[in-house]
Amino acid sequence: MNLSQDVLFQRILITGANGLLGQHLVHKLGQAPGNDVLATGLQAEPRYSGGSCGYTPLDITDAKQVRAVFEDFTPDVVVNAAAMTAVDTCESDRDACWKVNVDAVEIMARLCRAQGTRLIQMSTDFVFDGKSGPYTENDRPHPISYYGKSKLAAENHVRKSGLPNWAIARTVLVYGVAENLNRSNIVLWLLDKFARGETVRMVTDHIRTPTYVVDLADAVERLIRFRKNGVYNLSGGELMSVYEMARVTARVFGYSTDLVQPTDSHAFTQAAARPPRSGFIILKAQSELGWQPRMLVRGLNHLGVTLGLPTTA
Ligand SMILES: NC(=O)c1ccc[n+]([C@@H]2O[C@H](COP(=O)([O-])OP(=O)(O)OC[C@H]3O[C@@H](n4cnc5c(N)ncnc54)[C@H](OP(=O)(O)O)[C@@H]3O)[C@@H](O)[C@H]2O)c1
Repeated sequence: MNLSQDVLFQRILITGANGLLGQHLVHKLGQAPGNDVLATGLQAEPRYSGGSCGYTPLDITDAKQVRAVFEDFTPDVVVNAAAMTAVDTCESDRDACWKVNVDAVEIMARLCRAQGTRLIQMSTDFVFDGKSGPYTENDRPHPISYYGKSKLAAENHVRKSGLPNWAIARTVLVYGVAENLNRSNIVLWLLDKFARGETVRMVTDHIRTPTYVVDLADAVERLIRFRKNGVYNLSGGELMSVYEMARVTARVFGYSTDLVQPTDSHAFTQAAARPPRSGFIILKAQSELGWQPRMLVRGLNHLGVTLGLPTTA
């Protein structure tokens, strides 16, 4: 393993900094020695408190604004964590989805190429059809939702942009907490239901490798530090159904696992199709980045500490 660790002075631009991953990237990348981080998001002010990084509003679909920020800040690295991530909304509002998830990436890839900037593009297991997961980086994508198609099109823009330095960081079912989020995630949703004593029905036929956002931000920091190019699977290492994940969550936070009842995806009508069996094989990230994501139980315990909630497992 050849992990070059010399401290570089780098100017890093983060888009989507008010989102779940974005907030954790601000924290993680802002702490690393030598990094000068500019966080950007849709809102006039950051949704998070504290942090020593600069912040400026940026809508990545506004090419003029994007160009101005690139010219002012001259980033060495851009991490694009901005996206339309609501899968069903992407299905129904396709134009908006394409503008954010594809056109904006094309614009940023072009600017990165012109300025010699490294681009890290976040992507997803939804680029696969879910017939034969868990997937490696070399498996052939075949998206079955508009969201998945848009994320694959973005990947292809990055690959074909002529950029010398780029990475596509794919992840899966991310859980964790950040401040004033616009969207919840599976674990926060479950904890809310459990706290109200409500029973949830969770699908046994969607298989994933759940990812703790703190570990994901750590992996992205490593991609930058080790100057890695290419596609990387960055997810948890345990393959399980969404039903199993919910049972583990109940157990760790001291709720009865009876609150989690099994069902399958046929019981739900959703606008967008989901890949049934996805999940990632993460050997490449483990060996090349020296990265070891937490087991689910450990991730949930860490989250419990952050939330100030008691955990039992
Ligand atoms: N979460 C998952 O389970 C998951 C799984 C696989 C891949 N991913 C990928 O991981 C990346 C990060 O996702 P996340 O979980 O952090 O999602 P998130 O919490 O929804 O964050 C996305 C952020 O992008 C912002 N955004 C949307 N349109 C924008 C625009 N035009 N200009 C600037 N910012 C814009 C959103 O703003 P608002 O806050 O105002 O909505 C939000 O803050 C995305 O590329 C996503 O596709 C996530």
